[in-house]
Amino acid sequence: MVREILVWPHPTLKKKAEKVAVVDDSIRALIKDMFDSMYEADGVGLAAPQIGALKRVIVLDTRPRQPESKPIAMVNPEIIMLEGKTTYTEGCLSVPGEAEDVDRAAFATVKYLDEQGAEQVLRCDALLAIAVQHETDHLDGTMFVDHISVLKRELIRKRMKRLKSDRASGAAAPENQAAL
Ligand code: NI
Repeated sequence: MVREILVWPHPTLKKKAEKVAVVDDSIRALIKDMFDSMYEADGVGLAAPQIGALKRVIVLDTRPRQPESKPIAMVNPEIIMLEGKTTYTEGCLSVPGEAEDVDRAAFATVKYLDEQGAEQVLRCDALLAIAVQHETDHLDGTMFVDHISVLKRELIRKRMKRLKSDRASGAAAPENQAAL
């Protein structure tokens, strides 16, 4: 089921997500909703807090940029090694229409539980490495805008405020039209 993606700034996006105790059907249902919501929004990664679930779960699908990769769901992801440096122009489904350069590690090795609850270790490169760092940040209440200058962040904050008020008035539009 496609769920609403929260727009920054939002209190839930600043909270630390809880570790998942057991990978059960409720977690697998959450993962499905996360993939549905991510694909609907044309994203390559999504963290559970972005749809209001404060659980340590992320989903990734970087095939648009890395055709050899595949969709991956990670429960309790933990970055165990970072190597090299890179700068990538990042966007975020919770900050629609914005993109800024963020300094990241070039390679990230991540330990996680898969959808069956089995422990996996994966060394990620290119966009997948960026996405893993970006999504695990979300689980600790950190957004990509927290990595950029205060000035840029405040400009984005203003544009998000406008976007939210536009959306609020846009939602009322069909009813007004019908009333005509
Ligand atoms: Ni994001």
